[in-house]
Amino acid sequence: MQEARRASSVVRRLLDFSRQGERVRTSADLNEIVNDVIALTRHLLQTSNVNLALELDESLPRVSIDTNQMKQVLLNLIHNALQAMPKGGELRVGTHKGSRENRNWVVMAVKDSGVGISPADQARIFEPFFTTKGDRGGTGLGLSVTYGIVADHGGAIEVSSRSGEGSLFEVWLPV
Ligand SMILES: Nc1ncnc2c1ncn2[C@@H]1O[C@H](COP(=O)(O)OP(=O)(O)OP(=O)(O)O)[C@@H](O)[C@H]1O
Ligand SMILES: [Mg+2]
Repeated sequence: MQEARRASSVVRRLLDFSRQGERVRTSADLNEIVNDVIALTRHLLQTSNVNLALELDESLPRVSIDTNQMKQVLLNLIHNALQAMPKGGELRVGTHKGSRENRNWVVMAVKDSGVGISPADQARIFEPFFTTKGDRGGTGLGLSVTYGIVADHGGAIEVSSRSGEGSLFEVWLPV
């Protein structure tokens, strides 16, 4: 039963990943998305012994996004952050304005104080099915789906991390 459920979840996520064209773009406030996802995960955060620091830039410009897909992006990043802190820790979730390549961006950042990611793994984490959680039911699809959604929005996702020192993921979206 457990393996059947796992297979079903893999298939569902692959379908989500490949289902293009159904997305709905609206002008949205990224802070609202962060607040919605945090509200969904607050209980999980509390039971995981994780302290949350929320740092939202109140003067963030709106972005044209598929709000459900962007919630999925943040959910995947928070999920990974929690799994990297099995004994609890610090989670920072924030938004800020960015400027790069003569363009304006909004940035959504997720930082954890967890196990970190080795340089060798960092080169592979966005690959479909790359996982170091095979024993714990990880499929390795979270970040590849996340990458696909962000790229589809004309954005970029970046990671900076060191083994044992936590990880920072930043999602850059064009204004
Ligand atoms: N915040 C993080 N801290 C440490 N390692 C991470 C973090 N985020 C991702 N990783 C590494 O990247 C790998 C791939 O992540 P991804 O979300 O794609 O798959 P997964 O979490 O293993 O499985 P799934 O998301 O499908 O349940 C993870 O197995 C883990 O090794
Ligand atoms: Mg994951």
